[in-house]
Amino acid sequence: MRDFLKSAFGRSKPKQLRILPQDVTIEIGQGQTLLEAALANGIAYPHDCTVGTCASCKTRLKQGRVREATPFGYTLSKDELDAGYILACQAFPKDELTVVEIDSSAGDLMPAEKYTANIIATEPLTHDILRVTVQTDRAVSYAAGQYANLRKAGGGRARSYSFANAPQRKGRTLLEFYIRKVPGGEFTESLFGGELKGVSLEMEAPLGTFHLRAGDSHMVCIAGGSGLAPLVSILEHARGNRIKRDCTLLFGARTQADLYQLDAIGSIASNWQGDFRFIPVLSDEPLDSDWKGARGLVTDHIAPGFCEGGEGYLCGPPLMIDAAIASLAKHGIPLEKVFYDKFTDSRDR
Ligand code: FES
Repeated sequence: MRDFLKSAFGRSKPKQLRILPQDVTIEIGQGQTLLEAALANGIAYPHDCTVGTCASCKTRLKQGRVREATPFGYTLSKDELDAGYILACQAFPKDELTVVEIDSSAGDLMPAEKYTANIIATEPLTHDILRVTVQTDRAVSYAAGQYANLRKAGGGRARSYSFANAPQRKGRTLLEFYIRKVPGGEFTESLFGGELKGVSLEMEAPLGTFHLRAGDSHMVCIAGGSGLAPLVSILEHARGNRIKRDCTLLFGARTQADLYQLDAIGSIASNWQGDFRFIPVLSDEPLDSDWKGARGLVTDHIAPGFCEGGEGYLCGPPLMIDAAIASLAKHGIPLEKVFYDKFTDSRDR
């Protein structure tokens, strides 16, 4: 019977995927996700984790319906879902033609390579954040905003940390990361205990698609906790290249003791080409302290005055990012102008 049906109706036509803005159409193989089909056809489709947690493959679905391998809502905000975004790595096509639009600027990013990295210095920035400097076996090229996966040589789970210093044209061998201690976390407990100094790490980099887009609109940068690292890298890089844009940097921390790199931010501000506004916001600072600055959630301080016509650059925990996306949209920055790196402190991707 099965053979009869096959011969009577033939094999079903392969499903097609059309990718914009490149306007490339490819076939989607049996059982392939949209991302798998694109990569199998040599298309530089933005991606990283491939398991639905990093949002690097976030894509706007323009036509067709897809089945979710894991619910997109675990990673994408309600605003993103309402705007028609999907995760290509978790999407199987349902219709004959699926049309998607990707962020084409991600295609210009360098492919990841493997390096050996030795921790040569650690310096406390706060009671639970270390600045960690590693030296690599050769120069690493990356875009400001991207991150690296680090793991102990010979095994262990990789941890993801954003580059905190600006890239250099020919790559860098000395790289800085801001690493928050995760209580009970094997990697950071060893790091904070000094046991990893001089130890060889395996590093894979560059990863992620978070980077500064070309343009001259107001940059609204929002960082939470150790999420300051990629924004310092982006801002240092922009300052070094004398990029002329107005910028507002909102930095959310719990108390004054959790603020760090204020000198580095001050130096960026004083050499910035354009207006630069820095707004630190404290959520748990004692009311009777000498703090005269902003209080509450960092996202409560997103204001229309610096949003209109701007672009959002966000790095922090998922709740902060989701709240920031909603608030930026309310104040005039649409989703397609918001770029982010969403992480948990353990940076499990
Ligand atoms: S590559 Fe799809 S969510 Fe990470």
